Amino acid sequence: MCGIIGYVGYRNTVPVLVKGLEKLEYRGYDSAGVACIDYQKGGISLIKEKGKLSVLKEKIGDFSIEAHIGIGHTRWATHGEPSRANAHPHIDASGKIALVHNGIIENYAELKHSLQKKRVRFLSQTDTEVGANLIGHYYRKSRKLFDAVKRAVGELHGFFAFVLFSKEDPETLIAYKRSNPLVIGLGQGENFVASDVTALLPYTRQVIYLEDEDLAVITAKEVSVYSLKSKSWVRRHVSTVHWDASQAQKQGFPHFMLKEMHEQPEVLKKILSKKIQKGKSIFFDTLDKKFQQSLRKIKRVSMISCGTAYHAGLLGSIAIEQYTRLPCRTQVSSEFRYGDPILDHEDLVVLITQSGETADTLAALREARSKGAITLAVVNVVGSTVAREADAVIYTHAGPEIGVASTKAYIAQLSTLILLAFHIARLRKTISLSELKGLLREFKKIPDQCAKMLKENKKFEECAQKHYTRRNFLYLGRGCNYPTALEGALKLKEISYAHAHGYAAGEMKHGPIALIDHEQPVICIAPDSTTYDKMISNIQEIRARDGIVIAIGTKGRKELEKMADDFFPIPKTLEILSPILTVVPLQFFAYHIAVLNGRDVDQPRNLAKSVTVE
Ligand code: AGP
Ligand code: GLU
Repeated sequence: MCGIIGYVGYRNTVPVLVKGLEKLEYRGYDSAGVACIDYQKGGISLIKEKGKLSVLKEKIGDFSIEAHIGIGHTRWATHGEPSRANAHPHIDASGKIALVHNGIIENYAELKHSLQKKRVRFLSQTDTEVGANLIGHYYRKSRKLFDAVKRAVGELHGFFAFVLFSKEDPETLIAYKRSNPLVIGLGQGENFVASDVTALLPYTRQVIYLEDEDLAVITAKEVSVYSLKSKSWVRRHVSTVHWDASQAQKQGFPHFMLKEMHEQPEVLKKILSKKIQKGKSIFFDTLDKKFQQSLRKIKRVSMISCGTAYHAGLLGSIAIEQYTRLPCRTQVSSEFRYGDPILDHEDLVVLITQSGETADTLAALREARSKGAITLAVVNVVGSTVAREADAVIYTHAGPEIGVASTKAYIAQLSTLILLAFHIARLRKTISLSELKGLLREFKKIPDQCAKMLKENKKFEECAQKHYTRRNFLYLGRGCNYPTALEGALKLKEISYAHAHGYAAGEMKHGPIALIDHEQPVICIAPDSTTYDKMISNIQEIRARDGIVIAIGTKGRKELEKMADDFFPIPKTLEILSPILTVVPLQFFAYHIAVLNGRDVDQPRNLAKSVTVE
């Protein structure tokens, strides 16, 4: 899950690398480092430190290095503890090659053993250093870095990306991609390579997304790509990135998460204006006629994703079953991929992912494709691997999301999946045109209703003030808002480190009710719905045992307001749309609790935004 960057060109390299790492730090922050060829001295300069990029920046301040080629890294440790020795870049034992790595080399232990037998010395516990040394080993034999990398990667198992250079060729970067993302940024007299396009946006919008088994040779003037798959030099498509770079800045907010929560009404507006035509039909510009035709014939649907995207998938399933009457299962990608799923050409498998790079979701996509299912990616990051490999893609248009805790990408996923369900329902004629018009009328109110809720920020903060020292929280919901309970709990535990558990309210009496006493806060998500009365009964059961009730319900529900210690009203809406609104107070609640506890909201411990390892 690390972030990698490389630069070659006329600018002084270290500041370019550091600026790039600032954009990539969401991918990991256990350590950071840069390596470059010192223009004056000709040797490799290596600066790396344990901890966040800020620590590295301070260290760099002590050096003045002029360099025109270099690589940088921000780490999320998989092999070896976060430490200076394990930080990237790693230099091979001969001291000639510097390398950064994202991913895992699965057979590193046996390779390390055989290199050690050849008297190669290791300084770290990482799998990465094995990659550097294997390349170094072949480089010593062939004297050609390209050939050495080509030969070494053939022996490495696992999924990863590398960027490296040799001090003997101060003009050339080599990049290799196998599953983990790498994108090349094309400049004038300079070129870049990074894990993510956001690191390139200050310099260029012309990019090449490398494909699996691509080996790129990058100089200031030229980029050439060799495909190890086709065993030939290939021409890769140059794409133009249209993202607004300013969205990747905090714009005066103390945290990205808070800023991204405030962007939600705009995101919703954008989705609805792009996907709804004249209030009576849904239009996905990326789905061609043939794909739409296949949607008419499917017999089953699966929603596959991880974390927050899994919660969106749970609601997506409810929407699909309710409106299309097709059976729909939801599963986390890591279970699906190893579960030998029963699939054929009548299955639609929907992969939901903000980053489009999550390793398990990508593997699930490949599994579904290998079994002949029709695959549809619901993705935020344009051009990401899942988006490119699926049969079709629908983008969620949330813009760059930097905070590790997903907020605006979640409501974008919810909205997109509901629209997808409506769309399939119309294709299969399981809802009428007038029904659809009615649903869309209500949907169009959602962005303003969401904007109204953001204004309640003060109330959310006051509630958080009352509870921020507590260590256990229970979240309950039913039907469409059972996923909301799971998502609310996930938000809180990710960023505040308090224990939070999401549960189906009807299940409470089968176990969790034992937790209830006068110190147990229970967040009850109870907007108007077919199970509203059942939720009220559950809340009574909590009250009867002295539990603390924090309720989210439809505005005007006086009986609910009376029962609750704290009540957060949402505007009146349809049950299926309510999760887009009910999650907002939960995001704020988690945010304020985390801030009051002094947590690192945007970069919580042990986590990374994009999980590109299993
Ligand atoms: C969300 O707050 C989490 N950080 C995490 O659960 C995330 O949703 C999950 O890792 C999936 O990521 P993806 O959407 O990029 O695939
Ligand atoms: N395996 C490498 C390490 O532990 C890279 C980890 C990653 O990409 O997450 O340093």
